[in-house]
Amino acid sequence: MAVTGKKGKQIAVLTGGGDAPGLNAVIRGIVVKAKSLGYDVLGILDGWKGLLDCSHCGVLDLDQVSDIHMLGGTILHTSRTNPYKVENGPQKVKDNLKKLNCDFLIAIGGEDTLGVANKLFKEGVKVVGVPKTIDNDLNETDYTFGFNTAITRATESIQNLHTTAKSHHRTIVVEIMGRHAGWMTLESGIAGGASVILLPEEPFDLNEICNILKNRKKKGKNYAIIACSEGAVPKEGQMILQTGEKDAFGHVRLGGIAERLSEEIEKRTGIECRHVVLGHLQRAGDPTVFDRVLGTRLGVKAADMIDKREFGKMAALKGIDIIAVDLNKAVGKLKTVPKERFDEAKLFFETD
Ligand code: F6P
Repeated sequence: MAVTGKKGKQIAVLTGGGDAPGLNAVIRGIVVKAKSLGYDVLGILDGWKGLLDCSHCGVLDLDQVSDIHMLGGTILHTSRTNPYKVENGPQKVKDNLKKLNCDFLIAIGGEDTLGVANKLFKEGVKVVGVPKTIDNDLNETDYTFGFNTAITRATESIQNLHTTAKSHHRTIVVEIMGRHAGWMTLESGIAGGASVILLPEEPFDLNEICNILKNRKKKGKNYAIIACSEGAVPKEGQMILQTGEKDAFGHVRLGGIAERLSEEIEKRTGIECRHVVLGHLQRAGDPTVFDRVLGTRLGVKAADMIDKREFGKMAALKGIDIIAVDLNKAVGKLKTVPKERFDEAKLFFETD
């Protein structure tokens, strides 16, 4: 496979962080648009790791990306490697881009991957970003691709759990991904008819939850579904950590809140409880129509931004348009669920 393309006409592309359905649609969009503008696209493997050790899959041709927008995962693979945590990492990235004859770079990722892209831009790398995360917690874009697929999966699960919860007169606590932002829990909880929604943004009151469940019981509703973000925390407590481990970006591995919560509710109310952790099922498999189309449009825009020399920017969805925004504004602070959105959801806690 060819390593180098035309001088001044080759774009390196990488996907970093957790995979999100729609990544392949972005890659396809980039390759098709870039080719039409006379560029070659070099596929870097395993996110930033690939630019540290020069691993790539060669120049992507149209056949290699044909129809991949329908597939989940990423054909370029991914990692959570942070070049700023590796000795001389940023310089290695720059040297390797040169070695690979790539004047330009498109980084597809979330807050961490794009944070690195932003720093590299400030060090002279001609980079464009594409926002990816199932968490939907990136600023400067209305939605990130992957989110729609993840909430579709979570909604299906929450909705389906109603029949088993009802049959057994149980409360089922469903743990949904999202460490710091509860967008997935909020939207799938509303759509799937959860009786209680718990987000990282709003520490929960265990007594309040138990009262809601007891009131439901009084009204003859002997079952409930609680949609709970993995990062949700009780008012009186600390985050529950599954392991003390942290990744290269300093994120602790979460998990365990649904199990703890279901034990505690059962103890306090006598209601039989179970818990389910949706975990990676939320981001596994093929993207929804929305994510296929959004990913495709973002990819096309990113290649166009390279051609227009709009470096240090990110392709973003604003309303129905795909526009270029400053990477600097998109990273650094997460987009979390505002209180008004949570209050809206809370209105339904006692009704359904
Ligand atoms: O950022 C996406 C995400 O799926 C989060 O919702 C979740 O907390 C995390 O990644 C899980 O990371 P990993 O796949 O590395 O376990």
